[in-house]
Amino acid sequence: MFAVTAARIDADHPLSGLEIADRPDPAAPAGWTTVSVRAAALNHHDVWTLRGVGITEDRLPIVLGCDAAGVDEDGNDVIVHSVIGDPDAAGRDETLDPRRSLLSERYDGTFAERVAVPRRNLVPKPAALSFTEAACLPTAYLTAYRMLFEKSGVQPGSTILVQGAGGGVATALILLGRAAGFRVWATSRSEEKQERARELGAEQAFPAGSRLPERVDAVMETVGEATWAHSLRALRPGGRIVVCGATSGAVPPADLNRVFFLQLSVVGSTMGTRDQLGRLARFCEQTGVRPRIDRALPLREAAGGFAAMIDGDLFGKVVFTV
Ligand SMILES: NC(=O)c1ccc[n+]([C@@H]2O[C@H](COP(=O)([O-])OP(=O)(O)OC[C@H]3O[C@@H](n4cnc5c(N)ncnc54)[C@H](OP(=O)(O)O)[C@@H]3O)[C@@H](O)[C@H]2O)c1
Repeated sequence: MFAVTAARIDADHPLSGLEIADRPDPAAPAGWTTVSVRAAALNHHDVWTLRGVGITEDRLPIVLGCDAAGVDEDGNDVIVHSVIGDPDAAGRDETLDPRRSLLSERYDGTFAERVAVPRRNLVPKPAALSFTEAACLPTAYLTAYRMLFEKSGVQPGSTILVQGAGGGVATALILLGRAAGFRVWATSRSEEKQERARELGAEQAFPAGSRLPERVDAVMETVGEATWAHSLRALRPGGRIVVCGATSGAVPPADLNRVFFLQLSVVGSTMGTRDQLGRLARFCEQTGVRPRIDRALPLREAAGGFAAMIDGDLFGKVVFTV
Protein backbone atom coordinates (compact mmCIF):
# COMPACT_ATOMS: atom_id res chain seq x y z
CA MET A 1 0.00 0.00 0.00
CA PHE A 2 0.98 3.63 -0.48
CA ALA A 3 2.18 5.43 2.69
CA VAL A 4 4.09 8.42 4.09
CA THR A 5 6.76 7.33 6.55
CA ALA A 6 9.42 8.77 8.82
CA ALA A 7 12.54 6.95 7.60
CA ARG A 8 15.20 9.01 9.41
CA ILE A 9 15.46 11.59 12.17
CA ASP A 10 16.95 15.01 11.47
CA ALA A 11 16.34 17.67 14.12
CA ASP A 12 17.28 20.56 11.81
CA HIS A 13 15.99 19.33 8.43
CA PRO A 14 12.89 17.29 9.29
CA LEU A 15 11.71 16.98 5.68
CA SER A 16 14.84 15.03 4.72
CA GLY A 17 13.53 12.02 6.69
CA LEU A 18 10.15 11.95 4.94
CA GLU A 19 9.64 8.99 2.60
CA ILE A 20 6.63 8.69 0.32
CA ALA A 21 6.57 5.11 -1.02
CA ASP A 22 4.93 1.68 -0.88
CA ARG A 23 4.86 -0.18 2.43
CA PRO A 24 3.55 -3.62 3.44
CA ASP A 25 -0.20 -3.82 4.24
CA PRO A 26 -0.90 -3.56 8.00
CA ALA A 27 -1.58 -6.77 9.94
CA ALA A 28 -4.36 -6.54 12.56
CA PRO A 29 -3.60 -8.56 15.73
CA ALA A 30 -6.42 -10.09 17.84
CA GLY A 31 -8.86 -7.38 18.93
CA TRP A 32 -7.66 -5.02 16.19
CA THR A 33 -9.21 -4.23 12.83
CA THR A 34 -8.25 -2.46 9.61
CA VAL A 35 -9.64 0.86 8.39
CA SER A 36 -9.46 2.05 4.76
CA VAL A 37 -8.35 5.65 5.19
CA ARG A 38 -10.27 8.32 3.26
CA ALA A 39 -8.70 11.38 4.89
CA ALA A 40 -5.89 11.94 7.42
CA ALA A 41 -4.97 15.24 9.09
CA LEU A 42 -1.47 16.57 9.73
CA ASN A 43 -0.43 17.61 13.24
CA HIS A 44 2.68 19.24 14.61
CA HIS A 45 3.26 15.82 16.20
CA ASP A 46 4.27 14.50 12.74
CA VAL A 47 6.93 17.21 12.45
CA TRP A 48 8.18 16.43 15.98
CA THR A 49 8.56 12.76 14.95
CA LEU A 50 10.75 13.72 11.98
CA ARG A 51 12.82 15.90 14.35
CA GLY A 52 13.22 12.95 16.78
CA VAL A 53 11.08 14.38 19.59
CA GLY A 54 9.05 11.66 21.37
CA ILE A 55 10.50 8.81 19.31
CA THR A 56 13.80 6.95 18.97
CA GLU A 57 15.60 5.82 15.81
CA ASP A 58 14.94 2.12 16.54
CA ARG A 59 11.19 2.64 15.90
CA LEU A 60 11.84 3.73 12.29
CA PRO A 61 10.68 3.43 9.61
CA ILE A 62 7.17 4.16 10.87
CA VAL A 63 4.09 5.39 9.01
CA LEU A 64 3.29 8.93 10.18
CA GLY A 65 -0.16 10.35 11.02
CA CYS A 66 -2.30 10.34 14.18
CA ASP A 67 -5.67 11.23 12.70
CA ALA A 68 -7.95 9.47 10.24
CA ALA A 69 -11.50 9.07 9.05
CA GLY A 70 -12.36 6.16 6.81
CA VAL A 71 -14.35 2.97 6.33
CA ASP A 72 -14.10 -0.08 8.59
CA GLU A 73 -14.13 -3.74 7.50
CA ASP A 74 -17.95 -3.85 7.75
CA GLY A 75 -18.42 -0.79 5.53
CA ASN A 76 -19.17 1.69 8.36
CA ASP A 77 -17.90 5.27 8.17
CA VAL A 78 -15.65 5.79 11.20
CA ILE A 79 -13.31 8.20 12.95
CA VAL A 80 -10.12 6.66 14.35
CA HIS A 81 -9.21 7.46 17.98
CA SER A 82 -5.44 7.83 18.09
CA VAL A 83 -4.66 6.95 21.72
CA ILE A 84 -3.61 3.31 22.05
CA GLY A 85 -3.85 2.54 25.75
CA ASP A 86 -5.63 0.52 28.40
CA PRO A 87 -8.68 2.45 29.63
CA ASP A 88 -8.64 0.41 32.85
CA ALA A 89 -5.03 1.35 33.70
CA ALA A 90 -6.02 4.59 35.44
CA GLY A 91 -9.57 5.71 36.13
CA ARG A 92 -11.30 4.82 32.82
CA ASP A 93 -8.95 7.16 30.93
CA GLU A 94 -6.58 5.64 28.39
CA THR A 95 -4.54 8.87 28.22
CA LEU A 96 -3.39 8.19 31.82
CA ASP A 97 -2.09 4.70 30.98
CA PRO A 98 1.70 5.08 31.49
CA ARG A 99 2.24 2.74 28.50
CA ARG A 100 -0.13 4.56 26.15
CA SER A 101 1.01 5.75 22.75
CA LEU A 102 -0.47 7.63 19.82
CA LEU A 103 -0.70 6.12 16.36
CA SER A 104 2.68 6.68 14.62
CA GLU A 105 4.65 6.41 17.90
CA ARG A 106 4.77 2.63 18.42
CA TYR A 107 2.28 1.43 15.80
CA ASP A 108 2.09 2.57 12.17
CA GLY A 109 -0.01 5.72 11.70
CA THR A 110 -2.71 6.94 9.37
CA PHE A 111 -0.85 8.48 6.38
CA ALA A 112 -1.52 5.34 4.35
CA GLU A 113 -4.23 3.60 2.39
CA ARG A 114 -4.94 1.35 5.37
CA VAL A 115 -4.27 1.49 9.12
CA ALA A 116 -4.64 -1.20 11.82
CA VAL A 117 -6.24 -0.05 15.11
CA PRO A 118 -7.81 -1.61 18.21
CA ARG A 119 -11.52 -2.23 17.54
CA ARG A 120 -12.49 -0.06 20.55
CA ASN A 121 -10.78 2.94 18.92
CA LEU A 122 -13.44 3.33 16.24
CA VAL A 123 -16.06 6.04 16.70
CA PRO A 124 -19.00 6.43 14.29
CA LYS A 125 -18.58 9.33 11.85
CA PRO A 126 -21.69 11.52 11.79
CA ALA A 127 -23.05 11.75 8.23
CA ALA A 128 -23.11 15.56 8.58
CA LEU A 129 -19.29 15.70 8.63
CA SER A 130 -17.26 14.97 5.50
CA PHE A 131 -14.32 12.57 5.77
CA THR A 132 -11.99 15.57 5.44
CA GLU A 133 -13.71 17.39 8.33
CA ALA A 134 -13.94 14.27 10.51
CA ALA A 135 -10.21 13.56 10.03
CA CYS A 136 -9.40 16.79 11.91
CA LEU A 137 -11.11 15.70 15.14
CA PRO A 138 -8.95 12.99 16.80
CA THR A 139 -5.93 15.09 17.80
CA ALA A 140 -6.25 18.89 17.47
CA TYR A 141 -10.02 19.13 18.08
CA LEU A 142 -10.09 16.45 20.79
CA THR A 143 -7.23 18.21 22.58
CA ALA A 144 -9.08 21.53 22.36
CA TYR A 145 -12.31 19.89 23.58
CA ARG A 146 -10.63 18.51 26.72
CA MET A 147 -8.77 21.78 27.40
CA LEU A 148 -11.99 23.80 27.25
CA PHE A 149 -14.59 21.51 28.73
CA GLU A 150 -12.66 19.33 31.20
CA LYS A 151 -9.50 21.19 32.22
CA SER A 152 -10.20 24.94 32.07
CA GLY A 153 -12.65 24.96 35.00
CA VAL A 154 -14.42 27.99 33.52
CA GLN A 155 -18.07 28.32 32.58
CA PRO A 156 -19.69 29.55 29.35
CA GLY A 157 -19.66 33.34 29.35
CA SER A 158 -16.11 33.41 30.78
CA THR A 159 -13.27 35.05 28.86
CA ILE A 160 -10.53 32.80 27.53
CA LEU A 161 -7.36 33.77 25.72
CA VAL A 162 -6.05 31.54 22.90
CA GLN A 163 -2.35 32.03 22.12
CA GLY A 164 -0.99 31.53 18.56
CA ALA A 165 -4.32 31.82 16.76
CA GLY A 166 -3.28 30.20 13.49
CA GLY A 167 -2.43 26.72 14.76
CA GLY A 168 -4.52 23.59 14.40
CA VAL A 169 -5.30 23.35 18.13
CA ALA A 170 -5.72 27.13 18.40
CA THR A 171 -8.31 27.37 15.61
CA ALA A 172 -10.13 24.43 17.20
CA LEU A 173 -10.15 26.28 20.56
CA ILE A 174 -11.63 29.38 18.94
CA LEU A 175 -14.35 27.47 17.08
CA LEU A 176 -15.37 25.14 19.93
CA GLY A 177 -15.06 27.86 22.58
CA ARG A 178 -17.22 30.28 20.64
CA ALA A 179 -19.85 27.62 19.93
CA ALA A 180 -20.02 26.82 23.67
CA GLY A 181 -20.57 30.47 24.64
CA PHE A 182 -17.13 31.53 25.87
CA ARG A 183 -15.90 35.04 25.08
CA VAL A 184 -12.83 34.12 23.06
CA TRP A 185 -9.82 36.42 22.69
CA ALA A 186 -6.86 35.38 20.57
CA THR A 187 -3.30 36.48 19.84
CA SER A 188 -1.20 35.99 16.73
CA ARG A 189 2.10 37.25 15.37
CA SER A 190 0.40 38.01 12.08
CA GLU A 191 -2.17 40.73 11.46
CA GLU A 192 -3.78 38.61 8.78
CA LYS A 193 -4.23 35.70 11.21
CA GLN A 194 -5.71 38.09 13.82
CA GLU A 195 -8.32 39.08 11.25
CA ARG A 196 -9.04 35.45 10.40
CA ALA A 197 -9.36 34.63 14.11
CA ARG A 198 -12.09 37.28 14.36
CA GLU A 199 -13.81 35.77 11.33
CA LEU A 200 -13.75 32.37 13.07
CA GLY A 201 -15.53 33.76 16.12
CA ALA A 202 -12.91 35.37 18.37
CA GLU A 203 -14.49 38.50 19.87
CA GLN A 204 -11.13 40.28 19.75
CA ALA A 205 -7.67 39.42 18.42
CA PHE A 206 -4.38 41.07 19.44
CA PRO A 207 -0.73 41.07 18.37
CA ALA A 208 1.28 38.45 20.30
CA GLY A 209 2.35 39.76 23.72
CA SER A 210 0.20 42.89 23.71
CA ARG A 211 -1.63 44.39 26.70
CA LEU A 212 -5.25 43.20 26.94
CA PRO A 213 -8.28 45.37 27.81
CA GLU A 214 -8.78 43.28 30.96
CA ARG A 215 -7.46 40.11 32.57
CA VAL A 216 -8.93 36.79 31.41
CA ASP A 217 -10.32 33.80 33.32
CA ALA A 218 -8.22 31.19 31.52
CA VAL A 219 -5.47 30.99 28.90
CA MET A 220 -5.16 28.17 26.36
CA GLU A 221 -1.46 27.71 25.71
CA THR A 222 0.11 25.69 22.86
CA VAL A 223 3.03 27.96 21.91
CA GLY A 224 5.25 27.66 25.01
CA GLU A 225 8.32 29.85 25.60
CA ALA A 226 7.35 32.58 23.13
CA THR A 227 4.03 33.34 24.86
CA TRP A 228 4.39 31.96 28.41
CA ALA A 229 5.23 35.23 30.18
CA HIS A 230 2.28 36.91 28.45
CA SER A 231 -0.02 34.04 29.44
CA LEU A 232 0.91 34.51 33.13
CA ARG A 233 0.42 38.29 32.89
CA ALA A 234 -2.94 37.91 31.13
CA LEU A 235 -4.63 35.94 33.95
CA ARG A 236 -6.93 37.38 36.60
CA PRO A 237 -6.12 36.41 40.20
CA GLY A 238 -7.09 32.75 40.63
CA GLY A 239 -7.03 32.19 36.86
CA ARG A 240 -5.78 29.11 35.07
CA ILE A 241 -3.44 28.30 32.20
CA VAL A 242 -4.24 25.06 30.37
CA VAL A 243 -1.16 23.93 28.45
CA CYS A 244 -1.02 21.18 25.83
CA GLY A 245 2.03 22.12 23.77
CA ALA A 246 5.25 24.08 23.56
CA THR A 247 6.02 24.64 19.88
CA SER A 248 8.50 27.46 20.53
CA GLY A 249 10.28 25.81 23.50
CA ALA A 250 9.36 24.06 26.75
CA VAL A 251 11.45 25.77 29.43
CA PRO A 252 10.32 29.38 29.96
CA PRO A 253 10.99 31.16 33.28
CA ALA A 254 8.28 29.97 35.71
CA ASP A 255 7.74 33.40 37.39
CA LEU A 256 6.78 31.62 40.62
CA ASN A 257 6.14 34.87 42.52
CA ARG A 258 3.29 35.66 40.17
CA VAL A 259 1.99 32.07 40.32
CA PHE A 260 1.66 31.96 44.12
CA PHE A 261 0.85 35.60 44.79
CA LEU A 262 -2.06 35.62 42.33
CA GLN A 263 -2.95 31.99 43.13
CA LEU A 264 -2.74 30.94 39.51
CA SER A 265 -3.09 27.34 38.32
CA VAL A 266 -1.12 25.66 35.55
CA VAL A 267 -2.84 22.54 34.26
CA GLY A 268 -1.47 20.11 31.66
CA SER A 269 -3.72 18.50 29.10
CA THR A 270 -3.13 15.75 26.56
CA MET A 271 -5.50 14.43 23.90
CA GLY A 272 -8.77 13.02 25.29
CA THR A 273 -10.63 9.73 25.71
CA ARG A 274 -12.44 7.69 23.08
CA ASP A 275 -15.75 8.66 24.71
CA GLN A 276 -14.83 12.37 24.53
CA LEU A 277 -14.06 11.93 20.81
CA GLY A 278 -17.57 10.53 20.36
CA ARG A 279 -19.06 13.52 22.22
CA LEU A 280 -16.92 15.95 20.19
CA ALA A 281 -18.27 14.46 16.93
CA ARG A 282 -21.80 14.94 18.29
CA PHE A 283 -20.95 18.50 19.44
CA CYS A 284 -19.96 19.35 15.85
CA GLU A 285 -23.09 17.71 14.50
CA GLN A 286 -25.36 19.56 16.95
CA THR A 287 -23.76 23.02 16.83
CA GLY A 288 -22.90 23.10 13.14
CA VAL A 289 -19.20 23.73 13.98
CA ARG A 290 -16.90 22.43 11.24
CA PRO A 291 -13.11 22.21 11.52
CA ARG A 292 -11.24 25.04 9.88
CA ILE A 293 -9.21 23.47 7.02
CA ASP A 294 -6.31 25.44 5.58
CA ARG A 295 -5.82 23.05 2.66
CA ALA A 296 -6.64 19.51 1.53
CA LEU A 297 -3.98 17.75 -0.55
CA PRO A 298 -3.66 14.28 -2.08
CA LEU A 299 -1.53 12.08 0.21
CA ARG A 300 1.09 11.86 -2.57
CA GLU A 301 1.66 15.62 -2.13
CA ALA A 302 2.12 15.39 1.64
CA ALA A 303 5.57 17.05 1.57
CA GLY A 304 3.97 20.42 0.65
CA GLY A 305 1.71 20.27 3.71
CA PHE A 306 4.63 19.43 6.00
CA ALA A 307 6.64 22.36 4.59
CA ALA A 308 3.78 24.80 5.26
CA MET A 309 3.52 23.61 8.86
CA ILE A 310 7.28 23.88 9.44
CA ASP A 311 7.16 27.46 8.07
CA GLY A 312 4.14 28.33 10.29
CA ASP A 313 2.34 29.30 7.08
CA LEU A 314 -1.06 27.87 8.04
CA PHE A 315 -4.43 28.87 9.34
CA GLY A 316 -6.21 25.70 10.42
CA LYS A 317 -5.65 22.08 9.46
CA VAL A 318 -3.83 20.40 6.59
CA VAL A 319 -5.70 17.27 5.50
CA PHE A 320 -4.43 14.56 3.14
CA THR A 321 -7.00 12.72 1.06
CA VAL A 322 -6.53 9.10 0.02
N1 LIG B 1 -0.72 17.43 24.33
C1 LIG B 1 -1.43 17.06 23.28
O1 LIG B 1 -2.24 16.15 23.31
C2 LIG B 1 -1.27 17.84 22.01
C3 LIG B 1 -2.21 17.71 20.99
C4 LIG B 1 -2.08 18.49 19.87
C5 LIG B 1 -1.01 19.37 19.76
N2 LIG B 1 -0.09 19.44 20.75
C6 LIG B 1 1.05 20.38 20.65
O2 LIG B 1 0.53 21.69 20.57
C7 LIG B 1 1.33 22.49 19.70
C8 LIG B 1 0.48 23.06 18.59
O3 LIG B 1 0.09 22.01 17.74
P1 LIG B 1 -0.62 22.31 16.36
O4 LIG B 1 -0.76 21.00 15.65
O5 LIG B 1 -1.80 23.17 16.61
O6 LIG B 1 0.56 23.12 15.64
P2 LIG B 1 0.51 24.21 14.49
O7 LIG B 1 -0.75 24.01 13.72
O8 LIG B 1 1.81 24.10 13.80
O9 LIG B 1 0.41 25.61 15.34
C9 LIG B 1 1.46 26.34 15.73
C10 LIG B 1 1.01 27.80 16.03
O10 LIG B 1 1.76 28.27 17.12
C11 LIG B 1 2.14 29.60 16.92
N3 LIG B 1 3.61 29.71 17.02
C12 LIG B 1 4.54 28.85 16.59
N4 LIG B 1 5.78 29.29 16.87
C13 LIG B 1 5.62 30.46 17.48
C14 LIG B 1 6.53 31.41 18.02
N5 LIG B 1 7.84 31.23 17.97
N6 LIG B 1 6.01 32.51 18.54
C15 LIG B 1 4.68 32.69 18.60
N7 LIG B 1 3.78 31.80 18.14
C16 LIG B 1 4.25 30.71 17.58
C17 LIG B 1 1.70 30.02 15.56
O11 LIG B 1 0.62 30.94 15.69
P3 LIG B 1 0.61 32.39 14.98
O12 LIG B 1 1.35 32.25 13.69
O13 LIG B 1 -0.84 32.68 14.83
O14 LIG B 1 1.27 33.33 15.93
C18 LIG B 1 1.29 28.74 14.88
O15 LIG B 1 0.20 28.91 14.02
C19 LIG B 1 2.45 21.57 19.20
O16 LIG B 1 3.61 21.79 19.96
C20 LIG B 1 1.89 20.18 19.40
O17 LIG B 1 2.90 19.21 19.56
C21 LIG B 1 -0.21 18.69 21.88
